[in-house]
Amino acid sequence: MKNEPKKLIIANWKMNPLTLREAQRIFDASCSAADGAKNIDLVIAPPFIYLSDLIQYCGEETFCAQDVCWEDPSKGGAYTGEVSATMLKKLGVEYCIVGHSERRQYLQETDVLIGKKLDATLKTGMTAILCVGEPLAIRKKGKAAVREYIKKQLAGSLKAIELKSYRADKLVIAYEPIWAIGTGVVPTVEDAGEVIDLIRTVLVTGYSVKQARILYGGSVNSKNIGKFLSHKGIDGALVGGASIDVKEISKLISVVANS
Ligand code: PGA
Repeated sequence: MKNEPKKLIIANWKMNPLTLREAQRIFDASCSAADGAKNIDLVIAPPFIYLSDLIQYCGEETFCAQDVCWEDPSKGGAYTGEVSATMLKKLGVEYCIVGHSERRQYLQETDVLIGKKLDATLKTGMTAILCVGEPLAIRKKGKAAVREYIKKQLAGSLKAIELKSYRADKLVIAYEPIWAIGTGVVPTVEDAGEVIDLIRTVLVTGYSVKQARILYGGSVNSKNIGKFLSHKGIDGALVGGASIDVKEISKLISVVANS
């Protein structure tokens, strides 16, 4: 175990919790569960409004934004409601999620827009977590359809980016089948592993990116995390619902710490 790379656990709180006090409680529980665990990189992704307070509260932890503006004018700009990658970086945020399926679905984010967000994030030196994943209708068509869908999503977001100009380990891909998000239904480890292996092959052959970490996400909990992380190609997990349940996230982190 000693020489194995750390497992990356991203706690995606989504639009939770309602108060800063509750955010601190979840944060404390998550960090103390991971305290001393040498095999875990824990990254907390709270809503924007808590980032500044939590960083002041405990700047030693690693923070992630759940989204970012596609444009990043160095001197600010006219983008009401948006937050730039430079602002996040200056605040001390080190990671940023782009292309989450909920944003693709509810906000009609396209691969092209997501590519711009990815570029804006990487340009600041932050690590970008690009989410990809197929809807149920595609999964029902079979593995070949899933492969095509994922390849298209990757190409759509990566084509305009000079990936060579960024450090390869600054790119993380999260494979999140949409039908597994928040549903309690998960793919088999073999099925998830197959897509993750495909993503790795595409990155290496198409973009010469060898060091990107690839995560699984979608209904990850303390009972199934061990199984997913036992797959050689899965470098960590993007955890949603379980990450805001204090008992569950503590248990999940302990499972990884003791594996
Ligand atoms: P879930 O969400 O763990 O609640 O399924 C994962 C995600 O959307 O990142």
